[in-house]
Amino acid sequence: MANTAARSAEVEKKIDEILSKMTIEEKVGQMQQLAANMDAAKLDEYRKMGTIGSFLHVLGNDTQKYIEPAEKSRLGIKPIFGIDAIHGHALLKGATVFPSQLAAACTFDEQLVEKMGEVTAKEVAADGLDWVFSPVLCMGRDLRWGRIDETFGEDTEVVARLGAAIIKGYQKDGLVAACAKHYIAYGEATGGRDAYDSQVTERRVREVLLKPFKAAADAEVMSVMTAYGSIDGKPFTTSRKWLTDILKEELGFNGLIVTDWDNYKALVHGQRVCEDLCEACKDGILAGNDMCMYTDVFYNAAIEAVKNGEIPMSAIDDSVRRILRMKARLGLLDGMPARKLPPRSVIGCAEHVAVNYEVAKESAVLLKNNGVLPLGDVKSVAVIGPNADDVGAQYGDWTYYSHPNPNPQATPKDEVYTLLKGVREVFGDARVTYAKGCVIEDGDCGADSDKAMDEAVACAKAADVAVVVIGDRLKYNGEGKDVAQPILRGRQIELLKRVKAVNDKVVAVLVNGKPLVLSEAEGYCDAIVETFNGGDMCGLAAARLIKGEENFGGKLPISFPCGVGSGPDYYNQYDYWHGGRYADVKHENPYPFGFGLSYSRFEYSAPVLSAGKAKRDGAVRVSVTVKNASDVDGKETVQLYFRDRVCKMLTPVRKLLDFKKVFIGAGESKTVTFDVAVADLGYYDENCVYTVDAGAFDFYVSGDGINFGHAELIVE
Ligand code: NOJ
Repeated sequence: MANTAARSAEVEKKIDEILSKMTIEEKVGQMQQLAANMDAAKLDEYRKMGTIGSFLHVLGNDTQKYIEPAEKSRLGIKPIFGIDAIHGHALLKGATVFPSQLAAACTFDEQLVEKMGEVTAKEVAADGLDWVFSPVLCMGRDLRWGRIDETFGEDTEVVARLGAAIIKGYQKDGLVAACAKHYIAYGEATGGRDAYDSQVTERRVREVLLKPFKAAADAEVMSVMTAYGSIDGKPFTTSRKWLTDILKEELGFNGLIVTDWDNYKALVHGQRVCEDLCEACKDGILAGNDMCMYTDVFYNAAIEAVKNGEIPMSAIDDSVRRILRMKARLGLLDGMPARKLPPRSVIGCAEHVAVNYEVAKESAVLLKNNGVLPLGDVKSVAVIGPNADDVGAQYGDWTYYSHPNPNPQATPKDEVYTLLKGVREVFGDARVTYAKGCVIEDGDCGADSDKAMDEAVACAKAADVAVVVIGDRLKYNGEGKDVAQPILRGRQIELLKRVKAVNDKVVAVLVNGKPLVLSEAEGYCDAIVETFNGGDMCGLAAARLIKGEENFGGKLPISFPCGVGSGPDYYNQYDYWHGGRYADVKHENPYPFGFGLSYSRFEYSAPVLSAGKAKRDGAVRVSVTVKNASDVDGKETVQLYFRDRVCKMLTPVRKLLDFKKVFIGAGESKTVTFDVAVADLGYYDENCVYTVDAGAFDFYVSGDGINFGHAELIVE
């Protein structure tokens, strides 16, 4: 502690010294971040100045040409390099590509997610970069939104805990800076349409969305990125309330705030709240933004606004201080202890592949199994489907396939385990046949598609089991790819139906960015495995899982939709009293948040409280014994929910309070305990004041989000 204090006093002194020497141009230069794919001539001009604070999307081999002019500049402040390494350093050839955040969230395993951050940080740092634009702490609640795959799902507690875990992993040993994004309510954009106004209230933000950012601030995340959008008509980019009063002051975030891509220009041209860039700079900087991403006209406009006296130097100094502080923490300022950078050989090394395999295995969720799984030693397997051998669909967003300007270095690994490759390896080449069957495309795909479909059906007919790999692809998933209908597109359902007609063992494996409506498809499947975007090792992990060499332990961090247009279907909604259903769609969710099957069979005792009563400042322990009543070792995620039984404000039907993932050997039992502080059972009142009620509280314990054990607590 004493050391940290001494270190920060030393850092602040160093920053004071630098600030006292800086010109306005040098200060504003630090606040500018430019992109590798901007106009090449302009980029070159800025690069040669040597005073630009940061560049993004530059890959390792190119960094030196940006560093050299900076080192030669008057103050010699190095730029900081940011990269969208959001599930591994996936824009670099040979780097480890992890499952997407959504897939990783299915592990419900903080240590594993932290490890994923640590591995990514090592590979990013070994590549000479400093800053990852991750994690996404937005909530995945509107399945139309294109970026569901980037979230940790729909629940506040899960997003907060896994978010803090990955931040810890990234920032371990100060290797890279993490960036919690997108602040805030980005996932709530109207209609699921990217960057639209978010129709949520401040109370809603506080109840559901803010906690992950508080957890990030507590984990000392070095930066936060603002959302594109707005709340109640006020763009976040100009909201002093949300950026300074709440994020920096109330949540105690002392890192830097970077805008998202071109947010400043959007104030003038998209959102129409500022007359020109000078006004935009003034409003944005005064609101609390420290660094401007991409919009290069920011540089001249901000300098002009400072010179005109529209922006006080104190605001600029505060931003520059935050930027230099981050550079100091990463050892980028002269005189500060430098990071110990890992050698390049760590990129994609065997140890990292092993971590990746573990994440992929723990993130697969078994949604349905009528007994067909595990397949064991079947004689022949037909691997069918549009996503059986499609690396782009399996990787998901923010890899080479979706990068706006793929760099020759940014190509995927040669060795990626698609489902086809995994099944071939696990079941033996000779036993496996393959046919694609159809493409994932809306509309009629013509005669060729009939032929492809017939081939797939013939392939399925000749095999003992059909593994049908379906889902979505990048055209319908990722930033700017919102969809009105989260469905299995093209002829995928027809493919399943025809395969089922000729083979009585159909295992569907989903490779997709988000939950899709399965109501019709599931009738043609004997088993369903969800992998989302599972990264390099997905195919191997899934093949071993379906064979039975491994056991399933993943749970859903997000609910599946009951039907097209039935959403939002997230589990923790308010109570309803007019049925809460649609007349045309069965509104019972077979695959809700928390759900996931296993080859083990877990039996839960009734939960027991350490006391039936507690004070508002007190605590209580909830215990439950879980028995693995099968002959297969397994992992179970034990979930604790609560409900304030009667409250002056509406509160959710239940809310996840805690979870623990435990290993339970075959035939063994484990008692899982949760220590609950009564202070955590509160809600925000109509004035957004956090309050804990006296009265009855219900605790619910579950392993699947469907069956619940119950206990009651009286708070006095
Ligand atoms: C836009 C995205 O919204 C954000 O998540 C990303 O980090 C930046 N662009 C940089 O690529």
